[in-house]
Amino acid sequence: MSGSVYFHTYGCQMNERDGESAAAWLEESGFRIVEEEEEADVVIVNTCSVREKAEEKALGKLGLLAASKRRYPGRCVGVMGCMAQRLGERLLERFKGLDFVIGTSRLHRLAEVIRCVQEGGGPVVEVGEAEEERPELEPFRKPVHPIAFVNILYGCNRRCSYCIVPSVRGKERSRLAKAILAEITERVLKGVRDVTLLGQDVMAYGRSAAVWGDDTAFFSSRFREPFPRLLEAVSRIPDLWRVRFTSGHPSGCTDELAWAIAELPPVCEHLHMPLQSASDRILRRMRRGYTVEAYREAVTRLRAAVPNLALTTDVIVGFPGETENDFEATRAFMDEMGFDNAFIFKYSARPGTPAAAWGETVSEEEKQRRNQVLLADQNRRSQAIHDRLIGQTLEVLVEGPSLRNAERWSGRTRTNKIVVFPNPGRVQIGDRVLVRIERAMPQTLYGEVAQNE
Ligand code: SAH
Ligand code: SF4
Ligand code: F3S
Repeated sequence: MSGSVYFHTYGCQMNERDGESAAAWLEESGFRIVEEEEEADVVIVNTCSVREKAEEKALGKLGLLAASKRRYPGRCVGVMGCMAQRLGERLLERFKGLDFVIGTSRLHRLAEVIRCVQEGGGPVVEVGEAEEERPELEPFRKPVHPIAFVNILYGCNRRCSYCIVPSVRGKERSRLAKAILAEITERVLKGVRDVTLLGQDVMAYGRSAAVWGDDTAFFSSRFREPFPRLLEAVSRIPDLWRVRFTSGHPSGCTDELAWAIAELPPVCEHLHMPLQSASDRILRRMRRGYTVEAYREAVTRLRAAVPNLALTTDVIVGFPGETENDFEATRAFMDEMGFDNAFIFKYSARPGTPAAAWGETVSEEEKQRRNQVLLADQNRRSQAIHDRLIGQTLEVLVEGPSLRNAERWSGRTRTNKIVVFPNPGRVQIGDRVLVRIERAMPQTLYGEVAQNE
């Protein structure tokens, strides 16, 4: 048996990447991936646990899908991703009509699980330990975009006091460099031009594991540290124009990393490095492993080597114990750093994390207020940064027409800014073009194509 499958995906880029692997494994087993839920024999919700809201969204969707089985009796409904890993069979108890729960480390067994359900053997729970090994090579689908995400580090060895990720993604495991390079090389052959290397603490790559195998080519590197070495190896892949990575941590911002970004042409002038807070007291309670000064030094070191580095970040407001003073310190520091963009999250207590035991001290209204204040600051800051780009000509990697208006095309700069432009006719998806910026908004730049490269 086989059939058509539809995915709902929530969560981070890593989860998106898992969704792609799952889809590719299913295609290899004879399933078809469809773009409309209505057409699907199998509907899978790919979930995130990082905040309560993210789980609520997935739970709401699962409730609707479980109920929809009265209208679609033959339909198979399943759940994967971090919430599936966290809650396991409890999800089956909660939703009558749910057919399977599959954890993050068992994803390669998805086709078997679906078949088992379709043959009447359901419901199935396939959730192992979070850090079980997955197949070394991760499959991917034919790219529709010139952009792709590639895992280099699974799990996380940090223990930030608020975070659920280590418990759902397990201990840190670095992928073998050989497997990473093989995956990227294949993708580039299929038209990918911009690759983001993924890891929760991406700069920790290869620090506590052997990643080079017996491939002596790596030893001729001028870098000693594993992550810059990997960047160098990835940068050598022909026709790969852009390499970026996320998420960074101040402890990984070494001189070697600064040189790597400055000297390896494909490595983009863009870093996403979550700050979370700029109060040392709160950072300590968050167990982030850096002080405000260490964050500042890390950024100073990188900017000395890469003056036009675009810096983006994440901030949590309303962490237990966060006072008005702590918040104002974060606000001021964000201005000092001049972040190009910032994602602001309201603190959400996650079951089983140390911070969840401390109790909340900031009301929902106050979290909302702090959230709005930081968003407004960031809008102003992004606008000012973008205004300075007006009149400049920037390299844009073309992603395609916008969904709402097919006349307007969009792409990204090396600094990861979205640029919208009218297609003069000759521009195609995956082209690298020069766009002259004419107008700017906080999240978008607008311009005209100056020339095809
Ligand atoms: N590994 C990355 C972050 C992964 S989670 C890093 O540490 O840099 C993505 C973002 O979600 C975090 O940067 C943080 O800002 C936010 N986040 C994580 N747990 C949260 C929680 N319990 N409540 C609110 N936001 C949270
Ligand atoms: Fe969570 Fe901290 Fe690991 Fe990021 S570094 S995934 S916030 S534990
Ligand atoms: Fe990502 Fe959410 Fe899991 S942020 S790692 S999908 S908990």
